Amino acid sequence: MEHVMETYSRLPITLVKGRGCRVQDEQGNDYLDMVAGIAVCNLGHAHPQVVEALKKQAEELFHCSNLYRIPQQEALARIISKNSFDSRVFFCNSGAEANEGAIKLVRRYCHDCSGRGPGIITLAGSFHGRTLATLTATGQDKVKKGFDPLPGGFVIAPYGDIDALSEAVDDSIGAVMLEPIQGEGGVRIPPEGYLTQVRELCDRHGLLLVYDEVQTGMARTGELFCYQHDGVVPDIMTLAKALGNGFPVGAVVARRDVAEAFDPGSHASTFGGNPLAMAASLATLTVMLEQGIARRCRETGAYLTERLGELARLHPGIREIRSRGLMIGIQCDADLSSLAKDALKERILLNVIQGSVIRLVPPLIISREECNEAVEKIHKILKEKGV
Ligand SMILES: Cc1ncc(COP(=O)(O)O)c(C=O)c1O
Repeated sequence: MEHVMETYSRLPITLVKGRGCRVQDEQGNDYLDMVAGIAVCNLGHAHPQVVEALKKQAEELFHCSNLYRIPQQEALARIISKNSFDSRVFFCNSGAEANEGAIKLVRRYCHDCSGRGPGIITLAGSFHGRTLATLTATGQDKVKKGFDPLPGGFVIAPYGDIDALSEAVDDSIGAVMLEPIQGEGGVRIPPEGYLTQVRELCDRHGLLLVYDEVQTGMARTGELFCYQHDGVVPDIMTLAKALGNGFPVGAVVARRDVAEAFDPGSHASTFGGNPLAMAASLATLTVMLEQGIARRCRETGAYLTERLGELARLHPGIREIRSRGLMIGIQCDADLSSLAKDALKERILLNVIQGSVIRLVPPLIISREECNEAVEKIHKILKEKGV
């Protein structure tokens, strides 16, 4: 560790192997994985079809510059568009990079097409990444501390308050960017009707609506994309995390006419959409669609939420269970900062956000038996902590 920058507080285990919802450490201990690399391995670890696609592609061609046509990109973009809205896609390597691309596209569109100012409103509590533009867009002060000067052009509005959002709109604003469910912010689900009102506000003022679906996308919430729950269609949607089931990949998906604000030379990424990343993503999306993973996630999510409701009745320290599909937040009253470490003794991987929310984002293929096992283990851990 001496030569690795200390940007993470790491837990004291080393994971060396994973299959489905299970991972193993160096000593051969087996853990139930309720984190999935933070909503990344949605099909579980080492999914055979993804492994096979990667092996096959690796034997043919790892990398190819975007100086040339990459047919796998064209195929993946077509599938994404057919299963979302009529769009064109730019491929990159991470969530922050996808959001950077979306921010640049908004600015280009405002300068060249809509005539509105290029400012972007984001929401308090949001998380959009760690690059300079995306941490400025993020509605949490802790990620900005010490990184001045920050780029201009971002306004943060209070969460879930349509009147406050409306007040923040002036001629300098060209877009609203939000997560349909806030992930890092604590699994926060917006108030009923809020997203529809945001869409109406954007339409009234000619603003672009950007959905950051980096965490909520790829069936995590029980629809392939979270926007599909309430029929509010964004103009731009960003994806990453589970798109390649663990292979690094991101995407900016934009309404066709908005995408046209970019032309050759306006944006690029050396590795973006390379054949290996595309092979992993094509296999991931194909499995998701063919095997009805979103429906399975809805059903398993409902089951796990019900079981957690029973757990909440046994633990007065559980204040609320917030869930959509298999994106679940257990809001507790206690400080849970040591819980992820305590969980290792019970051989379960858990993640805590905002100090007091247990975030469950397991692989979407998790079985009911594994859900029961998770509930029993969480029960034991919380009991020991007196929650
Ligand atoms: C909603 C959202 N946007 C963006 C990001 C940043 O993604 P990455 O870490 O791949 O840059 C994350 C990461 O947690 C996220 O949850």
